[in-house]
Amino acid sequence: MHSASPRPASFASHGPLRGSVKVPGDKSISHRSLMLSALAVGESRVSGLLEGEDVLATAAAMRAMGATIERTGEGEWRIHGVGVGGLLQPQNALDMGNSGTSTRLLMGLVASHAISATFIGDASLSKRPMGRVIEPLSLTGAEFNASPGGRLPLMVRGICPAVPVSYRLPVASAQVKSAVLLAGLNTPGITEVIEPVPTRDHSERMLAGFGTKLSIETDAQGTRHIRLVGEAELKPQTIEVPGDPSSAAFPIVAALITPGSEVTVTHVGMNPTRTGIYKMLEAMGADLTYANERIVGGEPVADITARHSALKGIEVPPDVAPSMIDEFPVFFVAASMAQGRTTTSGLDELRVKESDRLALMAAGLKAIGAAVEERADGLVIDGSGGEPLEGGATIASALDHRIAMSFAVAGQNCYNGVTVDDVSPIATSFPTFEAMLAELAQ
Ligand code: S3P
Repeated sequence: MHSASPRPASFASHGPLRGSVKVPGDKSISHRSLMLSALAVGESRVSGLLEGEDVLATAAAMRAMGATIERTGEGEWRIHGVGVGGLLQPQNALDMGNSGTSTRLLMGLVASHAISATFIGDASLSKRPMGRVIEPLSLTGAEFNASPGGRLPLMVRGICPAVPVSYRLPVASAQVKSAVLLAGLNTPGITEVIEPVPTRDHSERMLAGFGTKLSIETDAQGTRHIRLVGEAELKPQTIEVPGDPSSAAFPIVAALITPGSEVTVTHVGMNPTRTGIYKMLEAMGADLTYANERIVGGEPVADITARHSALKGIEVPPDVAPSMIDEFPVFFVAASMAQGRTTTSGLDELRVKESDRLALMAAGLKAIGAAVEERADGLVIDGSGGEPLEGGATIASALDHRIAMSFAVAGQNCYNGVTVDDVSPIATSFPTFEAMLAELAQ
């Protein structure tokens, strides 16, 4: 979806990072706010929406299926929904660009409507596994015709009425959970998702906020049973999207590793299913303080201040992984500059994100002088003890926004800076990233 020509950029330290910044709206919440508003009857308003390429792909798809979606100002959007059951047959293939969340959640919505849709995407998305949503959605009666390996391009033939399912998640995935719940919206009866390992709960919070009958029960083993009563009616909402804690992690790690820095990121979402990165950085000795804690749009929010810190290596417990799954790339950067060894495990899922993040982070960090061992399910990193890394290398971002931003951050504490071969993927989630870094460096 972004421009075909790669745009290289170099990142080096210009001294301490200082100032107060706001990061764009939460990507997960932005996608869901457009999807649910597009299924409500009447007009919803969203403010603070992330206007990145991934979310714009969701907006375009919902328009192609009948919703009216207009931008009324910066981050301000107005949506007229079609009502649950009212999605129209899209006339063209739905181009999901780089966005796995758009693809998997929309596959769920289409599955229980009497329409069919073809999903296409960029080279990164076309490598990612869709079998994990095809499997539960097939149980509803929907039909799928996917490319080899359960990949895009793929066609979904939805069914109405669909059969309600009770599905136990075999992987800790908020996208799979959400796809099944969204299919349940237009399905008679009760759709159930059984979640042994908790993942981000934005879908549950927002479905309840839109007035659906949703219950969550946690059993003695800590497994969550999420039940949604189908043929739901969604009431239009006014939604304020908090800042994305995944995006905030980049300036925060940049401040922690750059001597003399003090950076505040305001209005950051602090949903406990998302804040593992901050807990782990604190366990490494990061100086983080939280102010102005409040609830915005049903989600906890705070201002976070990070000061340059002497970080120490830690062992990251694998059960923390789902609450920091997108932050491992930049966490590995922090670990590569800490004192001592950081060990991570249980991270097989990182191999099927926008890129193989274990392989690319290991290779990139080694190329700039870090001591990294790549294991099947994690990295073991021996940090530099705060000393800048050598740097000087050119890193391939491989259509992965978080790889690009992680090495831009690493460049802040390298003797010879870091070049990223293509920073254009950053526009999928954080269009203002480079401007923000430049502002903090002044
Ligand atoms: C997301 C869930 C996570 C995350 C992705 C966004 C979501 O993926 O990595 O960036 O919005 O539901 P998985 O559910 O595949 O772990």
